[in-house]
Amino acid sequence: MEQNTKGLAGVVAGNTTLSRVDGQQGQLHYCGYNIDDLVEGPYEETCYLLLHGQLPTTQQLQEFTEDLKQHRTVPQHVLEFIQHKSRQDHPMAVLRTAVSMLSCDNTFPSVGNDPQHTQQQAMALIAQMSTLVASIGAARTGKNITAPDKSLDHAANFLAMLQGQAPSAQACQAINVALVLHADHGFNASTFAARAIASTLSDMVSAVTAAVGSLKGPLHGGANTAVMHMLQEIGQEDAVEPWLNQTLDHHGLVMGFGHRVYKTTDPRVKHLRMLSKQWCEHTNEAKWFHISEKLRELVLQKKGLHPNVDFYSASLYYALGIDPDMYTPVFALSRVAGWVGHVREQLHDNRLIRPRAQYIGHAPRAYAPLQQRTPQHHTRPKETAKNVDNLKELRWYQSNTHSIKGCR
Ligand code: COA
Repeated sequence: MEQNTKGLAGVVAGNTTLSRVDGQQGQLHYCGYNIDDLVEGPYEETCYLLLHGQLPTTQQLQEFTEDLKQHRTVPQHVLEFIQHKSRQDHPMAVLRTAVSMLSCDNTFPSVGNDPQHTQQQAMALIAQMSTLVASIGAARTGKNITAPDKSLDHAANFLAMLQGQAPSAQACQAINVALVLHADHGFNASTFAARAIASTLSDMVSAVTAAVGSLKGPLHGGANTAVMHMLQEIGQEDAVEPWLNQTLDHHGLVMGFGHRVYKTTDPRVKHLRMLSKQWCEHTNEAKWFHISEKLRELVLQKKGLHPNVDFYSASLYYALGIDPDMYTPVFALSRVAGWVGHVREQLHDNRLIRPRAQYIGHAPRAYAPLQQRTPQHHTRPKETAKNVDNLKELRWYQSNTHSIKGCR
């Protein structure tokens, strides 16, 4: 029987040495190291690993961390754009444009696709993504955009800039774990978008801009925001089952569940679940964890689906005081390390990514001159049952989640 490769499901589209996603065993390794070990270290260590393919020594990590700190400043006109747009526009739309603006200024490491240049660009993008996301988060809520603090590491500096106050060591540790867990994940949609752009020998900023656009979608990074809106809509533990029954009866999606690759538990979930429990209890927000737990149990029972990385990150970020609309930018803050690592890997052994399409449109037909045409119905290829389901799901998502300004 022919394999269904719609959405490139199951298709191996290239090689990578960066992350190994084992969907059967439910394991994730970066450059051979299990994420269960990497979460013990700083996010900077994971970034180093994804850029150099090896773990750093103490001195290498120190130098790398210092180097990242030196790259945090973004041009003033980008900050002005963020200040101007963040109150009314979707944070991922602002982020996408802000990233794109980075290379329209002489301050960005010079354009060039040789390894030395791309290494500098990668450092700048990892460091500046943090400044952009934190500034968008601050500007959205009317706070002043503050300058990066070179005395703080990546996670602490991000939280301090986002929240306008010194974060606790525990909050920094929780965000650090989330950053490590989200840093890379094979040929996910945004990474693949970045690689496709890099393969044309365009520049790294263009690749990361496209990746941000891809991550925004609710089937990818946008799911974490959608999860929190879903939990808020459910509201309380005893409403979980009726809500789920109604959703499934209407062929709706339960956000934060299912995965293209993992057919068992997503290995990132256990870490985020534990942190969600701790933080929800610690901040008297335990109900979000309890609703999540009930939902997890029932979705597994009724649909056989496991939660993915976006499920418990939602309640964790909520308890950490992060606005739900900022969850996807926080994902970008981490995944940028994977994006730039993949761009460099693509360039190292490049061949244009250019698959073929199976043509299913009209057979060749006669071209009628303009004056001789009569109105014709636009006919599309027959809608398959799966297409119809996807449309229903999207409509459900659009009508059942709280509106995010600019999202629709
Ligand atoms: N809620 C309800 N049903 C789901 C589901 C979910 N979250 N995820 C998958 N399913 C169902 C599908 O409707 C489909 O059912 P069918 O065979 O009766 O048509 C079946 O499970 C297979 O799903 P499919 O859409 O083919 O899987 P996929 O590999 O194309 O999609 C996702 C993977 C992640 C896009 C999908 O699981 C999803 O939309 N999840 C919710 C969004 C999300 O959390 N995204 C973040 C991913 S990390």
